[in-house]
Amino acid sequence: MVSFTVNGRRVETDADPAMPLLYLLRGELKLNGAKYGCGVGQCGSCAVLVDGRSTFSCLLPLAALAGREVVTLEGLGAGDKPGPVQAAFIAEQAAQCGYCIPGMIVAVEGLLRRDASPDEAAIREALQPHLCRCGTHARILRAALRVTTPRAPAATPEPKR
Ligand code: FES
Ligand code: FES
Repeated sequence: MVSFTVNGRRVETDADPAMPLLYLLRGELKLNGAKYGCGVGQCGSCAVLVDGRSTFSCLLPLAALAGREVVTLEGLGAGDKPGPVQAAFIAEQAAQCGYCIPGMIVAVEGLLRRDASPDEAAIREALQPHLCRCGTHARILRAALRVTTPRAPAATPEPKR
């Protein structure tokens, strides 16, 4: 039996301890935000936060999760109430097919949890392990910059004379 939390909920499982977390999330917990891309740690589409750090769930056996805290895309907001990173990706329309986007969002969230105001180089480094076959990297980077760069308040319009 391995027990840990997923999005604040306690999970206890008798599944094979060697099974990757991704399979439990998608197959048993019906949390489909994390995607199966390559299954060998080469694409980033399966990323989730484990104790606040972005982690590829296709490589992480359940045995390594005892007592740890997992947060998936679903734990970062919902369609009708997106979290700040999700809202930035929506605002920048930073998806084409969208397959890579959950992992990208988790990567940005993980970065923000260790550095509240990362510069562009830090963002690029955090996103570097994540592939996007649609080539939306520029929009993904803009979304990350949108949420990591404090915005100046909108200018007050000139009063009409
Ligand atoms: S599915 Fe995990 S890195 Fe590709
Ligand atoms: S938007 Fe299609 S893989 Fe990134």
